[in-house]
Amino acid sequence: MFKFALRSAPHFSGTVRNYSTFLQSEAYYVQFTQSYYFFVSLTILFNRTFIFCMHIIKLDAIDSTNSYLRSLSISGDPDDYTVVVAHKQTKGRGQMGTAWVSVPGKNLTFSVYKKINCLHREEVFFLSMAVSLAVLQALNKFGIPQLKIKWPNDILSAHQKICGILIESVIKGDKLSAAIVGIGLNVNQTGFEALPSAGSLKSITGIHYNLDELLNGIITELKQCEKMIVDRKFELLKQKYEQHLFRKDRPSTFTNCVDNTVFMGFIKGISEAGKLIIALEDEVIRECDLKEVKLMY
Ligand code: BTN
Repeated sequence: MFKFALRSAPHFSGTVRNYSTFLQSEAYYVQFTQSYYFFVSLTILFNRTFIFCMHIIKLDAIDSTNSYLRSLSISGDPDDYTVVVAHKQTKGRGQMGTAWVSVPGKNLTFSVYKKINCLHREEVFFLSMAVSLAVLQALNKFGIPQLKIKWPNDILSAHQKICGILIESVIKGDKLSAAIVGIGLNVNQTGFEALPSAGSLKSITGIHYNLDELLNGIITELKQCEKMIVDRKFELLKQKYEQHLFRKDRPSTFTNCVDNTVFMGFIKGISEAGKLIIALEDEVIRECDLKEVKLMY
């Protein structure tokens, strides 16, 4: 027999200023077991009612929410927008093989299973852009100041990294069938030992945030930004992303990761292949990927 409870999600009940202006909605978690939830949202938008359902798995502890979704994708076929949230990650993973360390219960560490049937493998950077934009837009609605995207997908507020994103492809039969979108958002943690450029929503605004409200806000924006991918509005997506690009058109210092030399340049935007376009001296243009350069800030 199902053990279930209905819990109102306050994020959608009008307490968050900017959502309530055009969106009236009610949302509930339907809890079937300790950790499995269906998120049901009744949204009244321009007098039409939409129902969004998604599958949320809440875990007390796991090595990595990305790794957990990866095993689910190997053993079965998770629903689109299956969300795995962990109170604590024992082996959180970051970009380029780094570790993602987060104080248990203070921050958001979660992954979203996003089915994909409209992108080629080499176009996955568009998803990275859409996710970065979605997180930025969600945080903007919570009033977080001075938001920027540091290429490819770090989210900064007031020059501090508050969010990291790790997107991993799920390939089936040589085709991109889904992506595992891992998001680590620093929320209520206030000390970041040995990470001078890291910050959190609370360290920046002084406000304590509700993690569920933030999670719902991010998922809502993800669904909005996904539309640009489904409709293949890549130019629009790129334009919107570049509007928020950290240090765009400003003199910046980079480290060449191959030989560790330092060079100066101006970030001009993102190429058709998803690389960072840097203008060097003498009008030389260089296109770099993540393994080649690191922006110093
Ligand atoms: C980065 O290096 O900036 C990316 C960090 C991504 C961390 C998140 S936390 C949830 C998900 N699970 C992981 O193991 N990593 C991602």
